[in-house]
Amino acid sequence: MKTVSQTLFFTLCARANDPRFHDPMAEEIVRTHPEISQHSPDWITQKIITHRASFFDGQIRRIKKNNPTTNLALINLGGGLCSRFQRVKKDISNSIHLDFPEVIEALKDLFPVTASHLISADLNDQDWIGQVKNALNESETPVFCLEGVSMYLDKTPLLNLFNMLPTNFSRGFIVCDLLHPFFQHRAYIVRSVAQVGASFHSGVTSTKEIIDAAPLLKLDHARPPFVPTGLPQIPPFNLYQFAIFSWGL
Ligand SMILES: C[S@@+](CC[C@H](N)C(=O)[O-])C[C@H]1O[C@@H](n2cnc3c(N)ncnc32)[C@H](O)[C@@H]1O
Repeated sequence: MKTVSQTLFFTLCARANDPRFHDPMAEEIVRTHPEISQHSPDWITQKIITHRASFFDGQIRRIKKNNPTTNLALINLGGGLCSRFQRVKKDISNSIHLDFPEVIEALKDLFPVTASHLISADLNDQDWIGQVKNALNESETPVFCLEGVSMYLDKTPLLNLFNMLPTNFSRGFIVCDLLHPFFQHRAYIVRSVAQVGASFHSGVTSTKEIIDAAPLLKLDHARPPFVPTGLPQIPPFNLYQFAIFSWGL
């Protein structure tokens, strides 16, 4: 498995190990494959990861609550071994899980049930978009999740990804987390990432950079973890932040 893909083990362990985060599928995988536990992150990293996973799950629920008659399709880009399709199953009508081929193979081995559609693809290429389109029904509004992934993509494909969404899907949402370029090639700062030898390939200084690259997107909101929205996108508030964009709605 690629070094970047090995990062999925510490997010899986974080969700399995945090007693305040409910992820029975993660717990079961770690219980039946105890060797995976060696990837358990330290307590603070675990909290950051589960806080982020709760935020992403919460956004799907919020979008559904605000659009109760809309059929939502969850599209987990770089989904790793995330069972979000199960955790929010009441709020979605379709689920698509995309990652590198070897991750999709591992997921098929480890998960008792999977998302409705599994897509093996590299987000640095553009072929994945057609595969996602084929798995979506006309009536569905896609909600893309890019959780713990943007920093591993090269900058041009990352900005292209945002730009391609509104040109290929008539409406939708994307929930993502963004790391400042300060961290680019400084993955050693984050111990769990350094441990597997993965590298941060890109960063974003502000959500304006994304809107400039993808002007059809509208920023719904952005904020660093653990604090309210509305803070200026300057250091230290823009070192790491969550953002939600929408279009066509
Ligand atoms: C830190 S893990 C996060 C996994 C999952 N989103 C979660 O929160 O548990 C990063 C994931 O991004 C995937 N990834 C990184 N670069 C990718 C790319 N170019 N194309 C597809 N997946 C990628 C990795 O394989 C890995 O599963």
